[in-house]
Parts: sequence; structure tokens; C-alpha cells
Amino acid sequence: MKRKISIIGNWKSNKNKEEVAQWFEQYTKEDIAHIPLVDLEVVVCPAFIHLPVASNLLSKNVFNIKLGAQDSSPFPSGAYTGEVTGKMIREFAEYVLIGHSERRKHFKEDDEILKLKVNEAKNAELQVIYCIPDENTPVPQNVDIIAYEPVWAIGTGKADSPQNANKVIGLVKERNPSKRVIYGGSVTAENVLSFINEANIDGVLPGGASLDPGKFSMMVRNANSRE
Ligand code: PGA
Repeated sequence: MKRKISIIGNWKSNKNKEEVAQWFEQYTKEDIAHIPLVDLEVVVCPAFIHLPVASNLLSKNVFNIKLGAQDSSPFPSGAYTGEVTGKMIREFAEYVLIGHSERRKHFKEDDEILKLKVNEAKNAELQVIYCIPDENTPVPQNVDIIAYEPVWAIGTGKADSPQNANKVIGLVKERNPSKRVIYGGSVTAENVLSFINEANIDGVLPGGASLDPGKFSMMVRNANSRE
């Protein structure tokens, strides 16, 4: 059996309803949408408002993609105007990204609030993918997957080297034993194998390269063909 690899596509604040439908329509036309994946898990994370339509489209087509959200509330249901709770997300998705560097930077999310978000997400039985920019960032113990994403590699086209990502992820694993850890930052269909062929790297978190169904399916195909 091969080591399990996860590919988690983060669509960020992109796409309208029509474009979401087109993405799934085009992905369904790819051969990779219909063949069994080898110890490979594929997740896409649309905006909250598109989770119902994405979930509906997935249930109509038989292929192996799961859904995730990009954030979730630190609070349970109640008087928290504008928030989307873990339980609401769980009706449509299995995963949630928490602590992405864009949330830390633009929304001033700190370790304390992120811990509350993780707890709420776990109460809702979501699988938490917790993003950290370096090996020194604290990680709540109840997360499921950790994503190492150096800020300078995000959206820049300058990925970390697979060797360095492997080294940093090795340190993250020493500090967080038994966790699966993936790499994110300018991952493409072309470089995906160089990351997942490294011993410590359990998958990737592409942003830009997940927006195009052709590029994303190529990434999945390449990952599925690993030795
Ligand atoms: P990128 O984004 O692949 O566009 O660099 C990765 C991320 O922010 O998760």
C-alpha cells in the first residue's frame, strides 16, 4: 500500500455560481474523475455560499472529490451575526481549513481564536486542516492535517524547494507526532510529484492551480501516477 496523499484545492474568494458549475462540469469530463485513485484523497474548498451547489453537483456525478470550507466560526450557533458554524458546514462538507495565512493577516486571527475555531469544527465532526507559516507556529492538538505554507511562497509562483519543505515538515512532525503534514505555496501540476515524492510530505494545498479544472485534474493525475 502506498502512503496516503491529500490534494486540497483552496479556491479562496473566487468564482461565481456559474463558474462553480462549469468547474465541476469540466472536471467530470476528465478521465481522472472516473478512475479509482490510489491512496489519494482529493478535496476542493469553495466559498461558503457555493458549498450547497458544489455538494449537489458532486452527488450527481460519480467521482472522487470531497468538499471543504475555507474557514469556520469560533462560536456555536447563536447571536454571532455573519458567522457560519461548523455544524452548518458539516451539512455540506467534511473538511475545513483553519488558520490560513490570509485569515491571520487580513482578519487578524490569532492562536487563541484559531483554537476556538478548531474546537468548534471538531465538535461538528469536521476534519480540520490547520495552516501554519513555519515550524514554530503552535498547532492545536486536535487538528487532523497540518499544512505548512510559507507566506512568501503563496501566490508568488515561487514554491519552496521540495528538500526544504521536507525538512520543515520533518520538524513539524517531530513537534506534532502522528500528524499528517502537507505543503502549500505555488504548487502546480508540474511540481506536485517533486513534493509528494519527499518522505515527510503527505500532500499539497494548491490555491491558484486548483481554480482551473484542467490544471487541477492534471495535478491529480500526476499525483495518482506516483511510484
Ligand atoms: P497558491 O496558494 O497555490 O496560489 O500559492 C496556496 C494557498 O494559499 O493555500
